Amino acid sequence: MVLLLATIQLLVISAVSAIHDVTKYGADRTGRVPSTDAIARAINDAETHGGGLVHFPPGRYLTGPIELKSNMIMDVGDGTIITFLDDPALYPPLHGKLPDGQRRILPFTPLIRAWGQKNVGIRGNVIFDGRGEVWWDRLPPPATRPIFINFFDCHNVVLKGFTIKSSPMFNVNILYSNGIVIDGIRIRNPESYHGKGPNTDGINVVSVRRLHITGVDVATGDDCIAINAWGHGKERIPTEDVLIEDSHMSIGHGGVSIGSVTAGGLRNITVRNCVFDGTTRGLLIKTNRERGGTIEDIHYENIVMNNMRWEGIAITDLYNDKDSGRKPIGDQTPFVRNIKYNNVRGSSKKSPIMLIGLPEAPVENIEIENCDIRSKRPNFQLQNTRNVVINGRRY
Ligand SMILES: *[C@@H]1O[C@H](CO)[C@@H](O)[C@H](O)[C@H]1NC(C)=O
Repeated sequence: MVLLLATIQLLVISAVSAIHDVTKYGADRTGRVPSTDAIARAINDAETHGGGLVHFPPGRYLTGPIELKSNMIMDVGDGTIITFLDDPALYPPLHGKLPDGQRRILPFTPLIRAWGQKNVGIRGNVIFDGRGEVWWDRLPPPATRPIFINFFDCHNVVLKGFTIKSSPMFNVNILYSNGIVIDGIRIRNPESYHGKGPNTDGINVVSVRRLHITGVDVATGDDCIAINAWGHGKERIPTEDVLIEDSHMSIGHGGVSIGSVTAGGLRNITVRNCVFDGTTRGLLIKTNRERGGTIEDIHYENIVMNNMRWEGIAITDLYNDKDSGRKPIGDQTPFVRNIKYNNVRGSSKKSPIMLIGLPEAPVENIEIENCDIRSKRPNFQLQNTRNVVINGRRY
């Protein structure tokens, strides 16, 4: 995986030749005048010349949506603040195509996006301010709002070193893509419990292969990291070969959540050397009878989780579903198996461990070793499980 990190960064960076300075195209680095068009001109020019660095000298910028292209790095000078205008007219609905050919409409253009591109990245010690406060008041849930950073159908993506604050909706959202490195980014949104900062998943991925997340720091109003896999009918696109490490989650729902979009299947995911402070749950796998797919070969190692508001370790096949009766196995039955936890420590308000399978599809082969999560409600909550071992004892 270290190799992957290096290889992808090298691929992306070596693709870059020329430097395109946005101020040379008319961008205003005092932040008084919107630079949307100037930035677009710099990107178009870079694209015409085979890619390059689209460079933002240090300063303040005001802009509408930014669309990145292949062989291009958005490279932002230290200490820069880029604020996104909050006029909805600047973010019209976008049409995309799902892998099964179905059209999908994104209700708003994302603040920064790359669709169908390769060797593309964003880097710099910069703050991206999404002015979420305006959007959250204007469009509270269940309404959706623009996604901040959205990569769709991309190969070789690097996101490095920046801070996102006040995202209208998901902060980083990557779909149907492979070869992704997310390194040292910070995400800052308020917790959503009082209607502020709703649906602001920190990093939300769907059907990705070869993803490495390292050194991220997330405080947000929904899941800190959410790993999903899309599927519909015969079309199933898995998420595979994921490593998440050396990261810190403070405010948020799940520290690292798998699901609830699981129909594509998820396998070979490792989460290690992470600290969660006061998220709702720590390590969560969530699915239900409408979500389907197989979730297998998931490894969690060296996790500290302090002050979990609910459970520390949780698997549930009854996410948003209360029907625990037996049903026939069907297309959309979820299967969860071969999940290992090693060295998980901390404290939780609810049960330290909750494993809930289905009568027709128990969660199976769950191995939890060296686990010490203290709680005033220390009983494990196990339902429809098969072959569970917790700290050497079989359940
Ligand atoms: C599992 O994923 C890791 C990346 O985390 C990768 O290096 C490894 O080759 C994968 N293993 C298998 C069996 O595919």
